[in-house]
Amino acid sequence: MFNKSSLISSLLLALALTSPFHEPVSATPALHMPLRMVQEARSPEAGISIPIHKRSGFTDSDGIFNVDKARVHVIMTVNKHRRNLMNYLNTQGSLPEGFEIAPLLTLPANLLQTLTGTNVKRQSVPLKDENNDELWDGQISVGSNAQKFSIDFDTGSSDLWIPSSDCTASSCSSKNKYNSSSSSSSEAQSGSFGIQYGDGSTASGSIYADTVTIAGISVTGQHFAAVTNMSNSVAQTPFDGILGMGYSTLSNLGAPTFFETAVKQGVIPSPQFSFFLSTNGSELYIGGTNSKLYTGNIEFHDVNTSPGYWKISSGSISVSSNSSVVSGIDTVVDSGTTLIYGPTDAVKTFWASVPGSSPYEAESGFYTYPCNQTLNVSFSWGGKNWNIPDEHMSTGLADGTGQTCMGAIIGQNIFGDNSSTWLVGDTFMKGVYSVFDLGNNQLGFAQLA
Ligand SMILES: *[C@@H]1O[C@H](CO)[C@@H](O)[C@H](O)[C@H]1NC(C)=O
Ligand SMILES: *[C@@H]1O[C@H](CO)[C@@H](O)[C@H](O)[C@H]1NC(C)=O
Ligand SMILES: *[C@@H]1O[C@H](CO)[C@@H](O)[C@H](O)[C@H]1NC(C)=O
Ligand SMILES: *[C@@H]1O[C@H](CO)[C@@H](O)[C@H](O)[C@H]1NC(C)=O
Ligand SMILES: *[C@@H]1O[C@H](CO)[C@@H](O)[C@H](O)[C@H]1NC(C)=O
Ligand SMILES: *[C@@H]1O[C@H](CO)[C@@H](O)[C@H](O)[C@H]1NC(C)=O
Ligand SMILES: *[C@@H]1O[C@H](CO)[C@@H](O)[C@H](O)[C@H]1NC(C)=O
Repeated sequence: MFNKSSLISSLLLALALTSPFHEPVSATPALHMPLRMVQEARSPEAGISIPIHKRSGFTDSDGIFNVDKARVHVIMTVNKHRRNLMNYLNTQGSLPEGFEIAPLLTLPANLLQTLTGTNVKRQSVPLKDENNDELWDGQISVGSNAQKFSIDFDTGSSDLWIPSSDCTASSCSSKNKYNSSSSSSSEAQSGSFGIQYGDGSTASGSIYADTVTIAGISVTGQHFAAVTNMSNSVAQTPFDGILGMGYSTLSNLGAPTFFETAVKQGVIPSPQFSFFLSTNGSELYIGGTNSKLYTGNIEFHDVNTSPGYWKISSGSISVSSNSSVVSGIDTVVDSGTTLIYGPTDAVKTFWASVPGSSPYEAESGFYTYPCNQTLNVSFSWGGKNWNIPDEHMSTGLADGTGQTCMGAIIGQNIFGDNSSTWLVGDTFMKGVYSVFDLGNNQLGFAQLA
């Protein structure tokens, strides 16, 4: 059980950065024109597709929801966005409007033991699919000697992190590690970074600039952190590192992201990337859209870039024939988050519209519902209703009876108690083709082919 008082722990480490540099990503202010239809994809098929693979989920092999795994995911999600906002505060001097830094959630010791037990899901390259969908990864290479890393492409954060060969901690033992001495293009940067996790552990490391290549797209002088110690909770994830694809205002290093660097260095045909997340054949497309994977128009919405997230406004959620059960919401689209999180009150309202649903436990914000209940949930931002197929709304069976399902929409005040912002992860993204347009600061959705 989550015990609120024990969940709330104190300080995040101050960041020990000496000379962060702030590259203005885009000076274009977000326009308040929520909906824009575009007749054709911009630069279709000019870019490069990167296969990404699905990984472990929240269920055990019998299909039953593993509460501990899910609780850990909730804690890690809250803390990730807490870190983002700490980074923002650090680089920008104040928080974005409407956002607050949520309390650090700590991992209860028994959960940590569960995690560090035998259920490590690490797979060696080549990547292998697993039963359910927790996260998606692909490969990058770093340095003159192309050191390979399996990466979680994360639109909900803005730094590149990989383990360092200097990491001798057991938490690094199963990871690929970056050896700066063996790359002739590696340049050590001043400063270091440190982050305290909810399990009381610390991630720390050095900052480097080096060549980073994704599917043949190479950028030079990309800043990233090579982690010399990491939390056991992070060590359990099946990827080596994270490549942040948010705006660099959320960067811990205060550095442009890989994608921003690629745009600046002119190595991609178009300042867009697109996600197709599926049971198999998932891909990240860099430099445009893959028109084989969607049909019809892309419905674009202006991104309010000021918080540094891929955030769009004026959203509403419909359940079955109940339209706009929740409305007027801001939404952050985050490929690094498996589920959908909303403010606790709004999520309560959402589940109240689903007959037979009930809270599973208050602290983690999970709800159950009858598996045979038609949900037909959709999100809208003033245009089309973007449906979440019912099979994506369940994260597993609540028990062995097969009658009760765990819902994929979770009540947690990720962005502070006063925020109306939802965090929309893979549960939603799997149902649409999503296009992240850095050139126009727009986020688009299209119908899957
Ligand atoms: C890193 O690379 C250097 C140069 O190739 C090598 O001498 C050293 O043993 C490597 N270190 C580790 C920890 O692999
Ligand atoms: C690495 O992290 C672990 C777990 O948080 C901690 O116990 C250990 O002291 C750290 N090691 C170093 C060298 O910082
Ligand atoms: C996905 O898996 C199904 C069944 O396993 C297979 O028939 C299909 O060809 C696969 N699709 C892709 C794109 O790999
Ligand atoms: C699902 O909801 C949408 C509105 O959000 C509605 O147009 C559609 O008919 C519904 N489908 C079913 C099968 O109920
Ligand atoms: C619509 O929502 C109300 C509560 O907001 C709920 O009582 C009702 O069952 C819902 N109807 C459907 C069809 O889900
Ligand atoms: C779902 O299953 C329960 C229990 O078997 C049954 O009472 C209920 O009528 C079913 N509801 C629907 C919508 O099929
Ligand atoms: C939340 O909003 C209320 C009412 O607008 C305000 O009094 C309170 O200070 C806000 N809380 C924070 C932490 O900003």
